[in-house]
Amino acid sequence: MTENLAAFLYLIASVCFILALKGLSSPESAQSGNRFGMAGMAIAIITTLALPGVVSYGAILAGIVIGGAIGTFVALRIQMTALPQLVAAFHSLVGLAAVFVAAAAFYTPEAYGIGVAGDIAPASLVEMGLGVAIGAITFTGSIVAFAKLQGLVSGAPLVFTGQHYLNAALGIALVVLIVALVTGQSAAAFWALTAVALLLGLLLILPIGGADMPVVVSMLNSYSGWAACGIGFTLGNNLLIITGALVGSSGAILSYIMCKGMNRSIFNVILGGFGTDAAGAAAGATGDRTVKTGSAEDAAFLMENASSVIIVPGYGMAVAQAQHALREMADLLKEKGAKVTYAIHPVAGRMPGHMNVLLAEANVPYDEVFELEDINRDFTSTDVAFVIGANDVTNPAAKTDPKSPIYGMPILDVEKAKTVLFVKRSMASGYAGVENELFFRDNTMMLFGDAKKMCEEIVKSLD
Ligand code: TAP
Repeated sequence: MTENLAAFLYLIASVCFILALKGLSSPESAQSGNRFGMAGMAIAIITTLALPGVVSYGAILAGIVIGGAIGTFVALRIQMTALPQLVAAFHSLVGLAAVFVAAAAFYTPEAYGIGVAGDIAPASLVEMGLGVAIGAITFTGSIVAFAKLQGLVSGAPLVFTGQHYLNAALGIALVVLIVALVTGQSAAAFWALTAVALLLGLLLILPIGGADMPVVVSMLNSYSGWAACGIGFTLGNNLLIITGALVGSSGAILSYIMCKGMNRSIFNVILGGFGTDAAGAAAGATGDRTVKTGSAEDAAFLMENASSVIIVPGYGMAVAQAQHALREMADLLKEKGAKVTYAIHPVAGRMPGHMNVLLAEANVPYDEVFELEDINRDFTSTDVAFVIGANDVTNPAAKTDPKSPIYGMPILDVEKAKTVLFVKRSMASGYAGVENELFFRDNTMMLFGDAKKMCEEIVKSLD
């Protein structure tokens, strides 16, 4: 394959990736977005395999078979709710790959056309240094994120005095070592740089608490993109540079969107200390206050007689996989004349778009699903707010309690509805570990039970 043809095909693949990102920005176009992504990736792989520089098809095939088998096995077994840690685990591998590619280029620069050992082009050494630094930070940072999300280590922030100074000192050390690598080209500088970056990755993520982990995962996604971009420069591969930059910038935008959804600054998240894993502490801390509880029949009766119902799904709906039963319930309510809509908070669940994906899977019509800012005013004129497995995103402490970890987060004003039904299994708090005052309000009825079972029982009663 000629260089020009390869460049042209890489350009087509890049355009496919951009169209994929565009498509994935809305549930309606997500499937076509996915198709563009797959087509782009197929073109990219075939073009790369046809490049004259390929040395061994056998080794590549072995890599594809082994990696593909492990990937398929893991993807089939993973629960939807465990996707954030899976993503973190995969990012760690991208970071490690960046370190390996840089090491290979450092020891055999001739193979990459960037000079000979001891006399590597300075620009390539800068790229290599940046690639190693970002790759190593991504590697250890993603491992910590995985371990926290998987519950292998405590989700609580690990904070110690002088932490920020230590991190700043390590950051400066990274810059000094990159300069040393470029000027001295020594293996010692290369490996010292790798070691400092690995340590910095650990120290950057350890102080970040559980509630901020999804933002961290998306930030690491961004880092892994920039690491891939760095590898692209080392390998002289334009497509890798473009896709790395796409992943890097989309990850950064996603982190920004999540921070906006929680009304927190990205620096605040990175500097850590938020999101103590206090869920257990607040769980069941009702004191001597009482809550009103109800059954599926009570809920069915209330909703049957309602003219409008707003459904507020959250993480618990995902855990219970209640979306199909929920849609069935909504269909019956519509048949009985109620207006049914869905209110989606930007950080409901554990991933951006988590709720939209689940509702789309259950074929909920898109025109019934509204974002927070488009539906929040409607709660005042609504008979029933049906909150299913959501908690933090409805908690008024975000507006009233400056000490609350969720203070400042915009919330769905469910308490303004005439009646609020909360479907959850217990009085336990949500992800941020804070008690929800709404459970004790007069217009609230708690429907204790698994979200899917509760919907199925309501459907039976409505029938
Ligand atoms: P949460 O506040 O985490 O509450 C989920 C509730 O679901 C829990 O209180 C739990 O109570 C209930 N639940 C769990 N399993 C259930 C089941 N099988 N059946 C019924 N209920 C079940 O969820 P949310 O309101 O969706 O808020 C999301 C949280 O994640 C926010 O704090 C947000 O800041 C954070 N977060 C999200 C993102 C993104 S991008 N989505 C990013 C960063 C942070 P029980 O145990 O009593 O059942």
